[in-house]
Amino acid sequence: MNIQRKRIAVLISGRGSNLASLLRNDLSGDIVLVGSNKADAKGLDIAREAGIDTFALSHKAFASREAFDAALVERLQAANVDLVVLAGFMRILTPVFTDAFAGRLVNIHPSLLPSYPGLDTHERALADGVKLAGCTVHFVTSELDCGPIIAQAAVNVDDDETPDTLAAKVLVQEHQIFPYAVKLFCEGRLQVDGNRVRLRPINR
Ligand code: GRF
Repeated sequence: MNIQRKRIAVLISGRGSNLASLLRNDLSGDIVLVGSNKADAKGLDIAREAGIDTFALSHKAFASREAFDAALVERLQAANVDLVVLAGFMRILTPVFTDAFAGRLVNIHPSLLPSYPGLDTHERALADGVKLAGCTVHFVTSELDCGPIIAQAAVNVDDDETPDTLAAKVLVQEHQIFPYAVKLFCEGRLQVDGNRVRLRPINR
């Protein structure tokens, strides 16, 4: 069966190392648009160098989260994207956005969800004395850092670990599982059943 390649938009707010890892890998889909809420996000340069359309839309220009989200939805829908990938996009999204892309919106978070949603994950994990940390790719719902889990990777926490060393270790894993999860989506392999995501067999 010939599955049409998916059109992917990536939203970022910062350096864009996950965007770069997505660009390095075969996703069975094409990143056609990269957007940011910050015009000076380094990741926008990575996208431009790769010849991808970019846009910056400042949340500060909007009176409410909902108004910002509606403008973002409009921009992405105009590009006719099948999948929206949040790769370090540091905005809390309202249902205006999450409903518009329900089932085709994924995020990466630097913790083993459902542990440590939100900010400062590494500091909080170390303060709790965990021995394993990691990262999660998940479908996005209106609840922050929730939603069915597609992939996770774990790392050991060493005795002399700091938030910075842990973030660096986890980031290496992020760059592995994010392209893997996006490819599974593009190949139509993800079957969501409540909170669980199962893999469909490969169509040949
Ligand atoms: C990553 O750690 C990601 O998990 C989190 O934000 C960071 C983004 O890093 N959501 P980068 O911009 O992809 O380098």
